[in-house]
Amino acid sequence: MSTSSLTPDEITAIRKALDTYLWPEAAAVDALYIVQQRHGWVDDAKLEAVAGVLGLSPAYLDSLATFYPLLHRKPVGRKVIRYCDSVSCWLMGSDRLAASLRERLGIGEGETTSDGAYTLLPHPCLGACHQAPVAMVADRLLTGLDPADPDTLLEEGDGN
Ligand code: FES
Repeated sequence: MSTSSLTPDEITAIRKALDTYLWPEAAAVDALYIVQQRHGWVDDAKLEAVAGVLGLSPAYLDSLATFYPLLHRKPVGRKVIRYCDSVSCWLMGSDRLAASLRERLGIGEGETTSDGAYTLLPHPCLGACHQAPVAMVADRLLTGLDPADPDTLLEEGDGN
């Protein structure tokens, strides 16, 4: 498998991640995330190149990347909004939060605004159940959200 779609810097970073673990499978998420941090998502060519560096099959990496919700296999907006879609947040109005975000942004789940600013995604429990409802904007965790107030969420998320 060719590694030509990766930069020398990416290959070095992936090999460094590989050295950190006993098995290449254990380094796979880190390796894919290295690519995603630089490009926003992981396309087929880069996934195959990562597989080549790790000595794993592209099918294995694709199954991992499509299961793990922080990895993207298609382009996303400059900021990804992940609203929590698990039980504590359901009880505290995450369905209303999602609806207000869909209406405010004019997109559905899994879609990106036409200006490329935001992608909206549901996400399994974000680990702050006691502060529900919760969402992440880019890497920023926002808690105790008002389901009827998407603007405050977007403003706080712009503070990154
Ligand atoms: S259920 Fe939403 S953070 Fe856990």
